[in-house]
Amino acid sequence: MAQVGGFAGAARAGLAALAGVLALAATSQPSAAQEGAASAAGGDAAKLQKGRELFDNYACGSCHSLGDAGATGHVGPSFDGDSNLTEPFVVSRVTSGQNAMPAFGGQMSPDEIAAVAAYVVHARGK
Ligand code: HEC
Repeated sequence: MAQVGGFAGAARAGLAALAGVLALAATSQPSAAQEGAASAAGGDAAKLQKGRELFDNYACGSCHSLGDAGATGHVGPSFDGDSNLTEPFVVSRVTSGQNAMPAFGGQMSPDEIAAVAAYVVHARGK
């Protein structure tokens, strides 16, 4: 969606240039490219933000420590500084659980699990 908006913006910039000032066409192209880069980064930020909210909503922090989320649980392993955590690993643990780690596959959608995994892997380094 954001990329479509970017293209529409670029198309509008093109039309504005056609409408008269050709010199503007040259300057509008780099700014259209910057718009595209900004919306790609915005997509990541939105996913991480959603992951952080899910981390709160599903109370991961009641059992796990994660400084970025202000979480101090000690039932499960701390995520802070755990460089073994990869997105596929977190997705697998959250989906299926293990021992005292509950399985969330029945209550979270695959998109939600992917977002919380992206957030945990992003935030663990902090
Ligand atoms: C009821 C407490 C509890 C809750 C809530 C909980 N976990 Fe866990 N989690 C655990 C325990 C205990 C383990 C260790 C399981 C084992 O391997 O024996 C664990 C393991 C994990 C692991 C593997 C960590 C490692 O280094 O092996 C990940 C990733 C994980 N949990 C993510 C989450 C996420 C994300 C949430 C929220 C959606 C969550 N957990 C909610 C208790 C919990």
